[in-house]
Amino acid sequence: MTRTLLLTGPELTAEAMAYAASQGIRVIPTTPYAPVDELTSIISAEQPDAIIVRQGKLSREMINASAKLTIIAKHGVGYDTIDIAAAADRSIPVTIALGANAQSVAEHAFALMFSVARQTALLDARMREGHWDKATSVGMELSGKTLGLVGLGSIGRILMELVAPLRMTVKVYDPYLQELPSAPNVHLERDFEALVAQSDIISLHCPLTEQNRNLFGEAQFNRMRPGSILINTARGELIDTDALVEALSSRKIAGAGLDTFNPEPPPADSPLWGLPTLVATPHVGANTVEARDRVGLLAVQQIVNFWNGTAPDPRAVVNRHLFQS
Ligand SMILES: NC(=O)c1ccc[n+]([C@@H]2O[C@H](COP(=O)([O-])OP(=O)(O)OC[C@H]3O[C@@H](n4cnc5c(N)ncnc54)[C@H](O)[C@@H]3O)[C@@H](O)[C@H]2O)c1
Repeated sequence: MTRTLLLTGPELTAEAMAYAASQGIRVIPTTPYAPVDELTSIISAEQPDAIIVRQGKLSREMINASAKLTIIAKHGVGYDTIDIAAAADRSIPVTIALGANAQSVAEHAFALMFSVARQTALLDARMREGHWDKATSVGMELSGKTLGLVGLGSIGRILMELVAPLRMTVKVYDPYLQELPSAPNVHLERDFEALVAQSDIISLHCPLTEQNRNLFGEAQFNRMRPGSILINTARGELIDTDALVEALSSRKIAGAGLDTFNPEPPPADSPLWGLPTLVATPHVGANTVEARDRVGLLAVQQIVNFWNGTAPDPRAVVNRHLFQS
């Protein structure tokens, strides 16, 4: 029996496409960021058995447009664009590519920390305009500082290891953490507001949920240490953008490094673009050759294994708690 796999977005890497072909799967790619109406019509017409969500949203209507759908796999780990409850209502598991892009995102967060601390983006732009700011530029060392990690999953753990040679104190806020890895200078902080107040750098590595939207608002920016830095490679909606703009403009905090925004992309007239202490990248944390290879292949493997009767790793099934028993 030939099964059909729809991608919301273009073809996967060659290795993942070859693996799908070797399993006799008919793969239907779509144009990048295809409009919702177009995607819904394609799903209705093709009746896919599985969908890999690469780009854009997968709504209840889109999920219900295929009567044959048995599994949805996210090409990545951020699943807030998928109506996981609608999938659970039909007992369709939604899987994420657990850990497959974690190294790349952690390295990107690490790079943003350095870039903000040493103003590399601003200095580069200034040099291209003919300036030589040697006498006026003053950066900040990361060594010995306190790093607050919000979320210690796949990405947070790797960042924790990356900063070890810097002898930073690492404070972790993660209400769902089973066990804190034993490492020198790593401490659990159960009080989120205390972590906010005691960190020199805060890096966000938790999923966006209905409970933590605007986790960082005016109150948190007021509580952050003067001279501190906020890094967000998780989801833009975790931060109240207006409050961040205010905190950066008034120099309440020293800088921010953002890979994710609310909305994406931010509008051309966003006040973010006037902030010299902001380093911005266009949601590229996972965009490396290595991560793309791993994520695409894992998504197809999860689908094939499921069809062959092997239950997915429960940690990778993000809507399992919504299934009717
Ligand atoms: N910038 C990018 O390109 C990119 C790529 C991958 C992932 N991400 C984002 O990074 C997030 C983390 O990815 P991951 O692979 O480490 O996920 P993960 O599931 O391995 O880890 C998430 C951790 O966050 C914790 N957590 C959940 N709710 C929390 C809360 N309210 N406060 C603090 N901690 C909480 C969980 O217990 C878990 O330990 C993803 O959800 C996604 O939104 C971004």
